[in-house]
Amino acid sequence: MRAHYRSTGLHEAELAADPFEQFARWFAQAVASGLHEPNAMVVATADPDGRPGARMVLLKGYDERGFVFFTNYGSRKGVEITRNPSVALVFPWHPIARQIVIEGRAGRVEPEETAAYFHSRPHGSQIGAWASAQSTVAASREEIEESYRRLAALHPEGSEVPVPPEWGGFRVEPDRVEFWQGRENRLHDRLRYVRRPHGWHVERLYP
Ligand SMILES: Cc1cc2nc3c(=O)[nH]c(=O)nc-3n(C[C@H](O)[C@H](O)[C@H](O)COP(=O)(O)O)c2cc1C
Repeated sequence: MRAHYRSTGLHEAELAADPFEQFARWFAQAVASGLHEPNAMVVATADPDGRPGARMVLLKGYDERGFVFFTNYGSRKGVEITRNPSVALVFPWHPIARQIVIEGRAGRVEPEETAAYFHSRPHGSQIGAWASAQSTVAASREEIEESYRRLAALHPEGSEVPVPPEWGGFRVEPDRVEFWQGRENRLHDRLRYVRRPHGWHVERLYP
């Protein structure tokens, strides 16, 4: 699979008109390749002083409005995005010698969209979201498990678990999307869509 993509490369003529359609094509190929968790992506943020932070999250939806993930708004990433909405996303698809790098601005999704996704999750994950003040310092593992037990008793299996107030989705609206295809002799293909006032411009970057 990797050798196939390396030899066929990525050409301007075959690119979709916009990065969302191109993302959809590559995402489908990543899924078909069988690589583990193709929707896992790195989210890079920066605090107002420019200190970067990065971590994996799962992509839970995408369309022409952007790329959506869910998290705790009070987490480090949540706080950083609230203060500085510029983010970068990286899909690290090494088994097929590809990566996609997205840059843009993140904003909160509507509460209805968060609620619909939250209630589609397993009961244990819903309780886990309540039990975790994500990114704050815990005294011990026991303290975290006790928090889970207390909340599980409050919201037993079968009852509707409300959405935690600090939990929800972010949608990243892209202004640049780079499709990177590994090639022989390090002459990789890098095609980048850049948002312009009247549509998307495509440019090729040196590898
Ligand atoms: C494969 C993978 C998927 C993850 N998905 C999510 C996710 O969708 N949302 C989330 O908040 N954390 C997710 N995490 C945990 C984050 O990487 C991170 O530890 C957590 O969100 C706290 O990050 P922060 O302190 O930088 O805000 C995932 C971790 C891995 C390894």
